This record gives sequence, structure tokens and C-alpha cells, in this order.
Amino acid sequence: MKANNRLVVEVMNNSFRQLAKKAASCRLCPDLADQPAVLSSANGSLDANIVFIAEAPGRFGAGRTGVPFQGDRSGDNFEILLKHIGLTRSEVFITNAVLCNPLADGNNRRPVAQEIKNCSTFLKKSLDIIQPKVVVTLGTVALSALNQLLGTRFQLSQNVAKPLATENFILFPLYHPSPRVTNWKRPLAQQKKDFKKIRGVVSAG
Ligand code: URA
Repeated sequence: MKANNRLVVEVMNNSFRQLAKKAASCRLCPDLADQPAVLSSANGSLDANIVFIAEAPGRFGAGRTGVPFQGDRSGDNFEILLKHIGLTRSEVFITNAVLCNPLADGNNRRPVAQEIKNCSTFLKKSLDIIQPKVVVTLGTVALSALNQLLGTRFQLSQNVAKPLATENFILFPLYHPSPRVTNWKRPLAQQKKDFKKIRGVVSAG
């Protein structure tokens, strides 16, 4: 337990509630203004040692369920990976570089640079509140969002599954668990091996 003082927990909960409220009313991105921001107690524990950052809610997943990585095939893969290392959603915090579901012609699309920039205050504030030991980025969009926050230039291909020291936490870049990635770039079996390393990184942190 990181936050063992009642007052600290209360401050943390209040700050997060305010942040979630702000995200819910944010209209900065013209294309995403009508989509709900996925940031609530359903993202996980504010007391977590590990924060996972993915890309953006999927239209059949978090964009519909309000729970990051739940309801679509990326979510199914993520749950397999989390279970593989004996963790549950209530022990971690899961968020996205962009909190609303980006769509083009009714399909998921990659968030554009301006949307990632617009949402970066929510990402930064979430990390400030939670103060995790380890931040696991899932995919290139999440890593580039973190690079923007940190002023770093880490690349996924060179740093995958390598613990990287930053000022406030250890950054651990992994691939995204979407079927597109598990089928073509980083098979689920390899991603299971990558995930297995997370616990060691947390113990060393
Ligand atoms: N669901 C999420 O919450 N994030 C993703 O990046 C993909 C699916």
C-alpha cells in the first residue's frame, strides 16, 4: 500500500474525481467532442504501483463500456496478458494517451498529434496523482505521448521490454496487444514473455 495515510488517500481521491470531471467536460478536440472520456474509478486503483498507458478507447471496447481494454479483442488480449502475470485490474491503473474514441468513417483511427497534445494534461495529472513505480506504455502512440511529457525520444523497436529510468518512475515500453500487432509484429506468446518481466521491474523500482 503506497498511500497509507487517510488524509493522503482523500486528497488523491478528490484530485482524481476533479480530473475525471474536467475530462468529461473537455471539448478541445473537435472530432472527439461528442465521445465520452474514459477516465473514472473503472480505470483501476489510484494506489497502483503500475500504470498501463494504451492508445485510445476502441469503439467496441472502452468507447462503449467505459472501461479501458474491456469489450474488444485488444481488451481480451490485454486481460490474457494481465492474468498471465497474476495481476487483476483492481491492482493496476489503465489509461490511454487519448481519453476519447477517435473515429473515421465509423472505424477506429489513430489519434492525431494535436489530440495527443490536447490530452497530455490529463495523462500528466493522472501520473502526478498516482505516482506509480512503473509506467508500461503499450504501443507507439502511448510511448510517443510519454516522450512528449518527458522530453525524451525513446523508440519502441530499440527499447521494447527494457526498463528505462526517468525522474519519477521506471518506463517500460511494450507493444500494443491489438490483434493487428499480435498477428503481424509481436505475437501474443512473445508479449506474454514481455509482460512476465513487469513484476521484476516493479520489485527493482
Ligand atoms: N482499448 C483501449 O482502452 N485502448 C486501446 O488502445 C485499445 C483498446
